Amino acid sequence: MEIVTTVAQVRERVKTWRKEGQTIGLVPTMGYLHEGHGSLITKARENNDKVVVSIFVNPMQFGPTEDLASYPRDLEKDSAFCESLGADLIFHPEPEEMYHKGFSSYVDMSILTEELCGLSRPVHFRGVCTVVSKLFHIVTPDRAYFGEKDAQQLAVIKHMVDDLNMDIEIIGCPIVREADGLAKSSRNTYLSPEERKAALVLSQSIRLGEEMVKNGERDAAKVIDAMTKKIESEPLAKIDYVKIVDALTMQQIPKIDRSILCAIAVYIGSTRLIDNFHASIEPCETN
Ligand code: PAF
Repeated sequence: MEIVTTVAQVRERVKTWRKEGQTIGLVPTMGYLHEGHGSLITKARENNDKVVVSIFVNPMQFGPTEDLASYPRDLEKDSAFCESLGADLIFHPEPEEMYHKGFSSYVDMSILTEELCGLSRPVHFRGVCTVVSKLFHIVTPDRAYFGEKDAQQLAVIKHMVDDLNMDIEIIGCPIVREADGLAKSSRNTYLSPEERKAALVLSQSIRLGEEMVKNGERDAAKVIDAMTKKIESEPLAKIDYVKIVDALTMQQIPKIDRSILCAIAVYIGSTRLIDNFHASIEPCETN
């Protein structure tokens, strides 16, 4: 496995692979990798001849008061992890390599980015779409892999690829959880031992909502209310949002009568964590 830092180096490797008729899978990440990322790399390994992992803490997707400076980084550990999973190449550019002086072209999406995380993080999805488009142009993968924990991000990227006719298959991989249920996240590292315990309220409320829907509850407000009460029972938790949206449009819906996403964002102390569940309900099941 090789680590490269420039666009030219990636292009050179990709050109050789393409000449040999090899397929390429891309796993875009911001590093500080955990088993969630591991599942994406493993899936990419299964489906492609070559696997590229990008490790880039993208400044453009962080708001001015967010955690860009403190975002955890550990390239040595990340590269050992990627190598152990059979990745072929890590692309680890500096911000100047991705955003040269005078950079002024952006990929901006409406509608899907206006709810959920897009409301509390107004610049976030413009940064994500721009950097992911750039990575797609640089690596030209056949397939790209994203975690379902960032469910809105996955929906936005699928939509972008469709809107902009990018010939790349987007593959979502299931949320990977700690043994006690907490969804794996690089940001879990910010949590103190007391906060780590408190953070369990996210997966507990997700399980509660999921059970209610499984047991036939179709009133979105009732599910949201029960999940909200559960989260509010934890003194260290502060809700950013608890919402049920149409899984394709990301617009809020009153009735659970289609493919839905129930998504939550909760501050535990100063750490913002997200979690979600999907449900697919046939319209005839809603009486
Ligand atoms: O999910 C992430 O880690 C990032 O948002 C991504 C897709 C790598 C873009 O910077």
